[in-house]
Amino acid sequence: MKSRITLISFSLILIVMSSEVFSQEKKDTYPLIPQPVLLVSGNGNFKITPEVSIVVNDVMSRKDAGFFNAYLLEHYGFQLKIEVLGKEKKQAINFFRDSMNNKLGPDAYNLTITSDKISLRGGTQAGVFYGIQTMIQLLPAGKVAVPILPAVHIDDYPRFSWRGMHLDVSRHFFSKEFVKKYIDYLAMYKMNTFHWHLTDDQGWRIEIRKYQKLQEISAFRKGTLIGHYGEIPERYDTIKYGGFYTQNEIREIVAHATQRHITIVPEIEMPGHGLAALAAYPELSCTGGPFEVGKTWGVFQDVFCPKEETFEFLENVLTEVCDLFPGKYIHIGGDECPKDRWKSCAHCQALMKKEGLKNEHELQSYFVQRIQKFLSTKGKKIIGWDEILEGGLAQDAAVMSWRGNAGGIEAAKQNHDVVMTPTGSCYFDYYQSKDSKEPLAIGGYLPLEKVYQFEPYPDVLTADERKHILGAQGNLWTEYIPTFSQVEYMAIPRMSALAEVLWSPADKRNYTSFTHRLIGHFKLLDFLKVNYSKALFDLNYFVYPNSGSEGVALELMSAYEGGIIHYTDDGSEPSLHSPLYKGRIPVGQSTVIKAALFDGQFKRGRDFSQMFKLNFASGKEVLLKEPPHEEYSRGGGFTLVNGVTGNLPWNGSDWLGFSGKNLDATIDLGNPVTFTKVSIDVLQDESSWIYLPASVEVLVSDDGVSFKPMKKVLAAEMKPGQRLITLTLGRTTAKFVKVIAENAGIIPSGKPGEGNPAWLLTDEILVE
Ligand code: ACM
Ligand code: ZN
Repeated sequence: MKSRITLISFSLILIVMSSEVFSQEKKDTYPLIPQPVLLVSGNGNFKITPEVSIVVNDVMSRKDAGFFNAYLLEHYGFQLKIEVLGKEKKQAINFFRDSMNNKLGPDAYNLTITSDKISLRGGTQAGVFYGIQTMIQLLPAGKVAVPILPAVHIDDYPRFSWRGMHLDVSRHFFSKEFVKKYIDYLAMYKMNTFHWHLTDDQGWRIEIRKYQKLQEISAFRKGTLIGHYGEIPERYDTIKYGGFYTQNEIREIVAHATQRHITIVPEIEMPGHGLAALAAYPELSCTGGPFEVGKTWGVFQDVFCPKEETFEFLENVLTEVCDLFPGKYIHIGGDECPKDRWKSCAHCQALMKKEGLKNEHELQSYFVQRIQKFLSTKGKKIIGWDEILEGGLAQDAAVMSWRGNAGGIEAAKQNHDVVMTPTGSCYFDYYQSKDSKEPLAIGGYLPLEKVYQFEPYPDVLTADERKHILGAQGNLWTEYIPTFSQVEYMAIPRMSALAEVLWSPADKRNYTSFTHRLIGHFKLLDFLKVNYSKALFDLNYFVYPNSGSEGVALELMSAYEGGIIHYTDDGSEPSLHSPLYKGRIPVGQSTVIKAALFDGQFKRGRDFSQMFKLNFASGKEVLLKEPPHEEYSRGGGFTLVNGVTGNLPWNGSDWLGFSGKNLDATIDLGNPVTFTKVSIDVLQDESSWIYLPASVEVLVSDDGVSFKPMKKVLAAEMKPGQRLITLTLGRTTAKFVKVIAENAGIIPSGKPGEGNPAWLLTDEILVE
C-alpha cells in the first residue's frame, strides 16, 4: 500500500508503523543522510521566525541549543532566545534530554515537527545533538528570511558505536580551522570518532613540550616529492614544508569536537613511520643516524629501536598526549615496520635473547605490549593497525583492520575489539572516478557505490564474535592531497555513504534511495560551499562481448536518473543532435566513443570518452587457469580482450588482479590466424604493492591441448614502469594463444607491503 499517513499521535504511529507502509519516493524527498531508522511525513511545516524560542530542560541541552543557534546565525542571520523550562512549549523548538528514549538504543532521539512546535527528545546528550543534525539537513539550503521545517516524525539511533573518519596531517598539514571544519563534516553525518594521524615519517605535528626538537626539526621537511611515488626519475621541490599544532590549539580542537559529541583518537606512530622523530633524536634508532625528515612517500627502513631511552621518550610523549585527549583510546600505529635494522642491531638481538623472543615480529609485539602497559597506567586503551597481531597481540588492545578483513576477523576471534577500515572499501585516498581529469591520487578505485555496499560485519564471524566489531572508519591519507579543498573533494560524498553504512539499519540500505537523497543533499553542500566530488554524475561503463557478432559492445550507465545520453563514434563532441543512447553500442573496429549526459538542454557531469583498440584477440573466448582475486575480476577473462587498454585508475572492471598468483590465459581465436606479435598490458605501482611480472611467456597451439613455447621475456629485460610488454614472434599461424605472466612473488624488504604477496595487474592482451 502506498499511502500518505498524516501524523496523528506518536503512540498510534508506533503501532501502525512498518516501513512498507510508506513509499520509498516519499521518504527520499527528505535529503537526509544517514537515512533515519523510521520517518513519517506529516502535513504542514514549522516556521522559524525570530519570535520562536528554544526550550531546553537542562544545562547540557543548552549547549546543543547554542550549537543550533550558531548555525541559524551563520546561515540565516538571526538566532533565537533560549529558555530552560521543565516542560515543552508551543511555538518553540524543544530540545529535551529524556532517558525514556534509551529504550530505542544508545544515543537515540526522536523528533516530531508539527506546525505548532518542534519536540526533539534525545536519550543522551549525543542523541539530542544527532536530532539537531537531522533538523539542519531538513532546513532550506539557501538563505531565507523565515526558514521552515517540514512536519515529520523521526525515530532514530545508530547501528554501530564507532563511526569514524581519519585524517593524515603529516604528509600534508592542515590548519586548526580546517581540522575544525573536517570535524564539522563528521558531525553533519552523525559520526562520532575522529582518528587524527599526527605523526609520520614526513612530519611530526603535535607540540610536545618536553622535546623542543620535535617542533624545531621533526615538524618540517626540506622538500617534497613531485608527482607520483615510483616515477622515474624521482623529482623533489626544495620548499621547506611543515607545521604543528600547539597544545593550546589541540585543546581548542578537542573542545570543538567534544561540543559535537566526537571523540578524537590521536595517533602517535611506532615503531615504524617514525623517521621525523628520529631526524631530531637519532639516538632512538638502531644506527644512530643521521636522518632527515622524509621527503618522499612509502616506507622507511629506519624505525624506533626498542631501547630504554626510546621507551622513556615515547612514555614522556604519550604522557603529554594523554593529558590533551580525554578519549579512552590512543592509536599507536604499528603498521609497516620493516625489521631490517632490528635484524642487524646488537641491542635488538641481545634484547630478543634476554626476553626469549623468537623473531623480530615478537620483538614488535614486545614493543607494543610495553607501550600498552604504560598507557593502561594512564587509564587508556591502545588501538593499532592490524600488524600488531603479528608476534602476539597485547591484551586488551583493539585492532584496526586495513589489509582487508583478515586482521579484523582474526582479532575478533581472539576476543579483541575491532574497527574495520579495509582498503578496498574505506580508503578515501583512492580514485573515486575513472575520469582522466581526476586529480592525482595514490591509486586504486573506490567509487561511491562500493563504499555504500560495504558491510562492516565480516560474514564468517559468529554472533558473539561480531560483538567485537565496534564499527568502521574511512581513512584519508594525504600524500596526494595538498589542500583542504582537495580533502573535501576526496572525503565527500564518500564519507556520507560510509555514515549511512554505520548509522542506518542494514535492511534499510538502498543505493538508489541514497543517490536520490544525495542529489538533494548536494544543495546543502553547495550552500555550505563544500568542494565535494560530483563523480556521481559521471557516466559509467562496462564492456561486454558483442553477442553473436565480431567485436565488443559498450554499455553506458548513469546513477543520475533524470537525464538522457547522447554519443558519437566519429571523434566529434556529443551534443543533443548526436545519436541518442538506447542500449549497448556495438564496437566492431578501433574507434573512440564519446558520450555525455544531458538534463534538458544542459550537460550533467563530465564528457565521457573511450578509445577501443581492436585486434585479432578482441571479443574472443578466454580461458583462465586460475581465477583472479575477487576485487579485480568483474569481467573475467573477457577483460583481457575487451578492446580497452590502459585505463587508469586501475579498477576491478577494466583490470584483472592476481595477488601472489600467476596469470595463465588461453585465447581461442576461433580460426587459425596469422600474426607477428603478442602484447600484454601490465602495471607497476610499488606504493600499491603492484609489481611487473617476473616473466612473460607466449605459447601457441592449433588444438588448445599441446602448446608450443614461442618466446619468453624476463623482468630484467623490462623497463621500470613499462606498460605494454610486446613479444615479437615473426609470422606465426595458430588458433590458440597462451600468455603466462609470472607473479613477482613476495614484496622485498624496504618496499611498501614488504613480506606480503605482490599484485600482478593486467588489462589487455593484444594479438596483432
Ligand atoms: C596503513 O594504511 N598503512 C595503515
Ligand atoms: Zn635496535
